[in-house]
Amino acid sequence: METKQFTGDEIDQASALICKGELIAFPTETVYGLGANALDEHAVKQVYAVKGRPSDNPLIVHVSDFEMVKQYVTDFPSNTKALVDSFWPGPLTLIFIVKPNTFSSTVTGGLKTVAFRMPKNDKTLALINKAGVPLVGPSANTSGKPSPTTAQHVFHDLHGKIAGILDDGATQIGVESTVLDLTAADGVPVILRPGAITKESLEEVIGKVRVDQHLISEKEAPKAPGMKYKHYSPDTPVWIVDGNPDVFKKAITWAKNKNQRIGLFADDQLISAFSDEIDEGFSFGEDSVEQATKLLFAGLRSLDEKNIDIIFAQAFPETGLGIAYMNRLKKAANQKNLKSDSIFE
Ligand code: TXA
Ligand code: MG
Repeated sequence: METKQFTGDEIDQASALICKGELIAFPTETVYGLGANALDEHAVKQVYAVKGRPSDNPLIVHVSDFEMVKQYVTDFPSNTKALVDSFWPGPLTLIFIVKPNTFSSTVTGGLKTVAFRMPKNDKTLALINKAGVPLVGPSANTSGKPSPTTAQHVFHDLHGKIAGILDDGATQIGVESTVLDLTAADGVPVILRPGAITKESLEEVIGKVRVDQHLISEKEAPKAPGMKYKHYSPDTPVWIVDGNPDVFKKAITWAKNKNQRIGLFADDQLISAFSDEIDEGFSFGEDSVEQATKLLFAGLRSLDEKNIDIIFAQAFPETGLGIAYMNRLKKAANQKNLKSDSIFE
C-alpha cells in the first residue's frame, strides 16, 4: 500500500478513506495518532495489527465535540462539565463507564469503561467532523518505539502499512495526554497517566484528584493497561543524568573509559560544554522542561539512528510538566538513572 501524503483537499480525501475503513495518521497537540473509525471493528483490528500492539491495551476514542460522547455514555459524573469546559479541546483524556453494545471490546480492551479525548488540532477536528464518526487514535508509532511528534516519524514507522498521513508539522507538547479516570467507586478522579494537564491544574477546577499508586511506587499494578508495557524505548540504551554539569562530566568520563560512543540529549549549554567529548548531541534549546518535553521523542529517535552506544538524557525536577517528562524518560531508560557518584565506579 502506498502511504499518501495529502495535497489539496486533504480533509475530504482523508475522511473518505476513514469511511472506507482505512487507517489515517492524524496530528494532535500531543503526538500523532493512528486514526480509524472507532465503530468499524475490522478497521480497529487493523490498528492493533499495524502497530504490533497487545490487544488488552484499550484505545482512546477521539471526538470533535462533547456532544459526540453522549451517544456512548449514559451517566456522567458531576465534574464532567467543568473538566470539558476547562480543558477540551486539549491534552486531557477522560474515562467514563461505556454504554453497553456501543464500542466493540477491541476498542475497550474488554473493560466496562472507555476513554475519550477532543484533541486541539483544527485539521483533526475537521477530519472527525467530516467523517462523522469518532476515531480511535493510539500514538502512530510501532509499539514500543518513541511516540511520533512529526509526520516524518509516522512515515518512518508505518509507511506502506497505512493509507495516509495528515501532516500539520511538529506537535506542540510532545508527550501524550493526561489520562483521568472518572469511574472510581469513591468518586475521586484518578490520574492514570501524567501529561501536560497537571494534578494541580485539575484540582483548581474540580478539587481533590488522586494519582494512580503505581505512578508513585512502581510496585502496584498499573490501572491504565498501557502503562505496564515498556514504552518509548530506542534501541540504544538510555541513561538519565541529573541536569548538572558535574554529573554529566562524570557520566561522560565513565562511558569513555568503557570505550562507549556517547550521544547527549540536553540543553544548549550542556551540549556546547561537552561537544568535544561526546560523539553526537541533540539540543532541545533553552534549559526548560517545556522544550525538553517537546523534543524528547524526536531527540531519542534522532540519536538512535546515529552510530552511538549510549544516550545520556537530561533529568528535570518532578513537578508540573516535569512529572510527565520524567515518566516517559524513565520508561525509555528502563529506570537507569545516574545520580550518585557510586554508580560511576
Ligand atoms: O495524547 C494522546 O492521548 C495520544 C494522541 C494520539 O491522542 N494518544 C495516545 O493513545 O496516547 P495510546 O493508545 O497510545 O494510549 C492510550 C492510553 C493507554 O495507556 C491505555 O491503556 C489507556 O490510555 N486507556 C485507554 N482506555 C482506557 C480505559 N478504558 N481504562 C484505563 N486506561 C485506558
Ligand atoms: Mg502510545
